[in-house]
Parts: sequence; C-alpha cells; structure tokens
Amino acid sequence: MAKLGVGIIGCGMISGNHFHALSKLTTAELRAVCDIDAAKLRKAMEEQHAEGHADWRELIRRGDIDAVHICVPHYLHAEMSIAALRAGKHVLCEKPMGVSLAEAKAMEDAARESGKTLTVCFQNRYNGASRRMKEVIAGGALGRMLGGSAFVTWNRAEPYYRDSGWRGRWDTEGGSVLINQAVHTLDLLRWLAGGLELRGCTMSAKRLAETIETEDTCDMLLTDAAGGRYLFYASNCGPNNLPVQLHLLFEKGEMHLDGARLTVRGPESTSLEDYTTELAVGKDYWGSGHGPLIEDFYRRLEAGEPPFITPADALETTRLLEKAYTDPMSVRRRPT
Ligand SMILES: NC(=O)c1ccc[n+]([C@@H]2O[C@H](COP(=O)([O-])OP(=O)(O)OC[C@H]3O[C@@H](n4cnc5c(N)ncnc54)[C@H](O)[C@@H]3O)[C@@H](O)[C@H]2O)c1
Repeated sequence: MAKLGVGIIGCGMISGNHFHALSKLTTAELRAVCDIDAAKLRKAMEEQHAEGHADWRELIRRGDIDAVHICVPHYLHAEMSIAALRAGKHVLCEKPMGVSLAEAKAMEDAARESGKTLTVCFQNRYNGASRRMKEVIAGGALGRMLGGSAFVTWNRAEPYYRDSGWRGRWDTEGGSVLINQAVHTLDLLRWLAGGLELRGCTMSAKRLAETIETEDTCDMLLTDAAGGRYLFYASNCGPNNLPVQLHLLFEKGEMHLDGARLTVRGPESTSLEDYTTELAVGKDYWGSGHGPLIEDFYRRLEAGEPPFITPADALETTRLLEKAYTDPMSVRRRPT
C-alpha cells in the first residue's frame, strides 16, 4: 500500500517530536515542511530531507500530502486546521484545540463536513501510567471516584516569554500556564473523571506580572457529575519543573501519580501496585506520548477508524479553558 504523505507546518521546538515519530513509521512519510522563519525552514528541509514552503497555503494545496501536522502558535491552530480539512487533508493539531470554544467548534464542524480525521495532541493520555489509571478505573476494583487533586508546578522564566513572538499574549497564546503547560493535566483529569464542570477559577500573574499579559498561576475547583470535587493548581513560578502530581480518591482506594510513577492502593491501604513507566523522548515533563499518539493516528487512518481523541472529546477541554479564562474571580482575565 502507498505511504501517506505528511506535511508539517511550524518547525519550532515541538516539531522535533513529530519528525522523530514520523521517522519510525512505515505507513506514512514526511514530504513537506513549512515555516515563515527562513533559517528554521532550511534546517528542517536539510535534516528531514523534505521540500519546504514559506507559505502554509502552498503546503496544504499539494496533491501528495494526505495529512498535516499543525505545530504553530495557538492563535493559528483553528485557521490552519480548518483550511487543511477543507483542502481534503487529515489534521493532527498540537494542543490546544483553538484558543476559544468558538474556534474549537469551528474545527469540529470542519472535520465533520470534510469527512476527514482531526485529532488534538494530548499525548499524555498515551503515557503508560495514564492508560493504566484508565484501565483500573474501568475495572471497577476501587469503586466510584470521589474526587482528586492535580498539581503542575513548573518553571518558565522571563526570556521564555520575552524571546518568543507569541507567548504571554492573549491574542497569540490565548493564556499561559493553563492553556499551554497545564492543559495536558486538565485534559487527563477530565478524561479519567469522565467529564468535569468548572466551579471556580482564579488566574493571576505573580512572578511574571511585568512580562506577560496572561496568567502564570491558576487554581480551579471542578466537579464531576456525581458532585465529586477536584482541586487543580498550576503555576510557572516554581524554581524547577517538578513531575506532574495527580491524586484520585475512590470509595475503596486511591491512586497517586508522581510523574511516571503510579501507585494504586486498594481497600485498607494495601498497595495494589506500584507502576513506573518510561518518560524518555524529548523533555521528560512533556511525556513520551508523541510517538505512540502519532503512530496510533496513522494506524487508525489506515484501518478507517476514528481517532482515539475525537474532536468532540478534545473540544470539552477547550470548553473548560474558555470558562476558566472568563471567570470573574480572576485577576487576569481574557479580554472580551
Ligand atoms: N504537546 C506538547 O507537549 C507540546 C509541547 C510544546 C509545544 N507544543 C505546542 O506546539 C505548538 C508550537 O509550539 P513550539 O514550542 O514549537 O513553538 P515555537 O515558537 O518554537 O515554534 C512555532 C513555529 O511556528 C512558526 N510559525 C509561526 N507562524 C507561522 C506561519 N504563519 N506559518 C508557518 N510557520 C509559522 C514559527 O516561526 C516557529 O518556528 C504550540 O501549539 C504549543 O502549544 C506542544
């Protein structure tokens, strides 16, 4: 069977994870790359042996491209994904699914109308520990989930924002620590809990108040359908990047995830399992999920199956983001 042709728009930091994952596939191959930065474009062309375009619209018009990976700043995700879907391409879009709920809905509509596949890169769902948590929950040994807590305490210094043309601004990043770094953990928690509602959120800028328009710190209270409470705290003010911590409480036990290490305790605090998985590719706090997610995306395309993370599913995480960024309690709120 002929290989699927792939194009990547955006040859910045995250593109390396996509290049690496694609290089392992036998069913798809990278054919074209695009970036408006001439040096990054040339480097990607040379290193990946791909053809290059400075204009993304040229790339999505190519007849030999079946799927496009969108690896550009947040404010371009919706426009590029929608145009690529309408041009008849499958789309793998980096997170987030748009910077607003309206954008996410337009992306979902474009996928449905085009009949092409759209997925969003929430690769942490593919981490071994995440999958194990989902399996244990589905198995029911711990009973009903009663609530949880999540902590994402990382370090992003001034130059990370100052030297980037798009981070730290409402119109281009759409927020900061929540929409960019902690969105993975929010998505994971929502996925594991089987749906969450936002009850209250406070966004503020503490360390980076003079550098960014957006938030460097966010705390939220969420609830599940049965009223279970979930605390969520994220900040880029830490001295270093700590492993993500996620704690889930059940009727008959608990689960604790500390980076790649998952501990599951059953009734009477007996340790059911102690499970550690690899976080190997790239920066370890991104997780190692890009490879499995990209491999699974192409496997499902070949099999004619829907993606593991559907547009309707990813959209629910953007719904939470939208509510969080417009919460009246916040010191830093998205301008309306
Ligand atoms: N899944 C993850 O864990 C993860 C990790 C890091 C970044 N990301 C996401 O990947 C995306 C890119 O982030 P990054 O860190 O690589 O940013 P980056 O700034 O390093 O790279 C973005 C690239 O897009 C290019 N670009 C901008 N406008 C363009 C246009 N109109 N046409 C073509 N190219 C254009 C820039 O020149 C730059 O090279 C973001 O959505 C980010 O949230 C995801």
